[in-house]
Amino acid sequence: MAVTIPYFAALTTYFSYGLLFVFGHLRDFFRGFMKSESAPEDCFNRPIASAPNAWIDVIERYSNDNNKTLHRTGNSRHCLNLGSYNYLGFAAQDEYCTPRVVKSLDKFAISTCASRADGGTTSLHEELETLMADFIGKPAALVYGMGFATNSTTLPALMGKGGLIISDSLNHSSIVAGARGSGAKVSVFQHNIPEHLEEVLRQAIADGQPRTHRPWKKIMVIVEGIYSMEGELCRLREIVAVTKKYKAYLYLDEAHSIGAIGKSGKGVCELQGVDPADVDIMMGTFTKSFGSCGGYIAGSKELIQYLKHVSPGHLYATAMSPPAVQQVISALRLIRGEDGTDRGARKLAQVRENSNFFREELRKMGCEVLGDADSPVMPVMLYNPAKIPAFSRECFKRNVAVVTVAFPATPLLLSRARICISAAHTREDLQRGLEVISEVSDMVKLKYMPLEEEVEALLKEKRL
Ligand SMILES: Cc1ncc(COP(=O)(O)O)c(C=O)c1O
Ligand SMILES: *[C@@H]1O[C@H](CO)[C@@H](O)[C@H](O)[C@H]1NC(C)=O
Ligand SMILES: *[C@@H]1O[C@H](CO)[C@@H](O)[C@H](O)[C@H]1NC(C)=O
Ligand SMILES: *[C@@H]1O[C@H](CO)[C@@H](O)[C@H](O)[C@H]1NC(C)=O
Repeated sequence: MAVTIPYFAALTTYFSYGLLFVFGHLRDFFRGFMKSESAPEDCFNRPIASAPNAWIDVIERYSNDNNKTLHRTGNSRHCLNLGSYNYLGFAAQDEYCTPRVVKSLDKFAISTCASRADGGTTSLHEELETLMADFIGKPAALVYGMGFATNSTTLPALMGKGGLIISDSLNHSSIVAGARGSGAKVSVFQHNIPEHLEEVLRQAIADGQPRTHRPWKKIMVIVEGIYSMEGELCRLREIVAVTKKYKAYLYLDEAHSIGAIGKSGKGVCELQGVDPADVDIMMGTFTKSFGSCGGYIAGSKELIQYLKHVSPGHLYATAMSPPAVQQVISALRLIRGEDGTDRGARKLAQVRENSNFFREELRKMGCEVLGDADSPVMPVMLYNPAKIPAFSRECFKRNVAVVTVAFPATPLLLSRARICISAAHTREDLQRGLEVISEVSDMVKLKYMPLEEEVEALLKEKRL
C-alpha cells in the first residue's frame, strides 16, 4: 500500500518522535531508568474480564506514578469491541460449538501432555485434519498447537542452505523467525507488487547462489492472504502467475483470511478465483475466524508426510489442545452448513456486509482508512505518536475498545488504530462505534482526507 503521508502529519510526526527521543534520553540520563520512554503503558496489555465478543469487559486501572505502574480499580468497563480478530463471532459462547467443546472434555482433556508424534494424536486431531484439507481444497493437512509456531517451525523444515526465500516486505514476525531459522537466503519484494516479485525472481535465478553462482536448490515465495497491519488483500492471481512462470514454490499465510473472506469462507483463493492447486503450501491459523487456538499447513500428501517426520512443531511441541480442536471442528461444520442451518452462511455474509459498511462510513467521515473492500481489518491512520494514547484513551472513556499499533510493528511514521469488524456486531453497534470514532477523530484531528463536499466545492470553483 502506497500510503501518502500528509505533509504536515509527517512533519509533526518526525518532530514528535524527535521530542520523545530527546526527552527519553534526558530522562534516562537524569533518572537512570532502564525503560523510561513515554510509552503509554495504560493503552497496552489491558486485561479483560469477558469473552472477546462484540462487547467486551475491560478492567479499569489507575496509576499513582504517571502510568508507570498500574493498579486495578476493581471495576470493569463494558466496551464495544473493535479490536479482536473475532471475524465470525465464534470467540464467544455459541449454541452449536460450545456444548460440543464442553462435551469433548468428557472424553479427552485440556492437554494431550505429549507431542503429536509421541502419543498426542487423538481422533479429534485426525478428524480436523481431514476436514480442513477438504475445506481448503488440498489433499492433506497437518495441525499445530500454535499459529506462530506453524510458520516458525515449518519454514526451517522446508528450506535450508542453498535455498532462497522471497517474502513480501510486510512479513509477519513468525515468518521472519522461520526464515532466519532455516539458513536459507532471504530477499524481499515490494509489498504486494507482483511486477517487483518477478524482477527479484529473475535476478535471483540469473545470479544463482552468492559466491558459487550455483543454481538455487529451492525458491519459496511467501505472501499473506490479508495483511493484518494494512487490511489489504494479497494480489494472489498475479503472484501465482509469476511463481508458475519461474517455477518457484508459493507459501500462502491465511491467518486472517481463512474463514473470513470468500463466499463460503475459503479465503483469498475463493475470493479471487485462484485454484488452490496453484499454491504449494497453504498455512493458516485457528485464532481468528474459528475462535480457537493453533494453526495448520495444507498441501500435498507428500509434503504433509514429510513434515510429520521433520517439523519440530509436530515432533516436539505439545499437540493442539483437544477442546480447541473440537472448537474448530464445530465452527467448520457450521461454516459448511453441516449443522443443518444457514447460520454459518449468514455469519459470512454478515462480516462482509459489516466490514464494507464500516469502512465506507469511516471514509465518508474523512478518516484515512487503509485496505481493501471485504477485508474485516481496517487500519485508521494516526501518524503522530501523541495521537496513539489520545485516540485509545478517548475511545475507552466512551466505552469503545480499540487497538493501536505503532513502531516497531509499523514504520515509525505510520502509527494506526487497527479496527477489526465481526459478524457479531449489529448495525446499532457499528453506528455507536462510528459516532464515537467521529467524535474522537475531531478531537485528536484524524480527519486527514478532504470530504467529498469540500472536493466538490473546490471543483466548482475550478480550483482543482
Ligand atoms: C499473518 C500471521 N501469521 C501468523 C500469525 C500467528 O498466529 P497465532 O497468533 O495463532 O500464533 C499471525 C497472528 O497474528 C498472523 O497475523
Ligand atoms: C495515564 O493514563 C490515564 C488513563 O488512561 C490518562 O488519562 C493519563 O493522561 C495518563 N497519564 C500520563 C502521564 O500519561
Ligand atoms: C506466519 O504465521 C503467523 C501465525 O502464526 C501469521 O500471523 C503470519 O502472518 C504468518 N506470516 C507469513 C508471512 O506467513
Ligand atoms: C522481512 O522484511 C524486512 C523489511 O522489508 C526485511 O529486511 C527482512 O529481510 C524480511 N525477512 C524475512 C524473513 O522475510
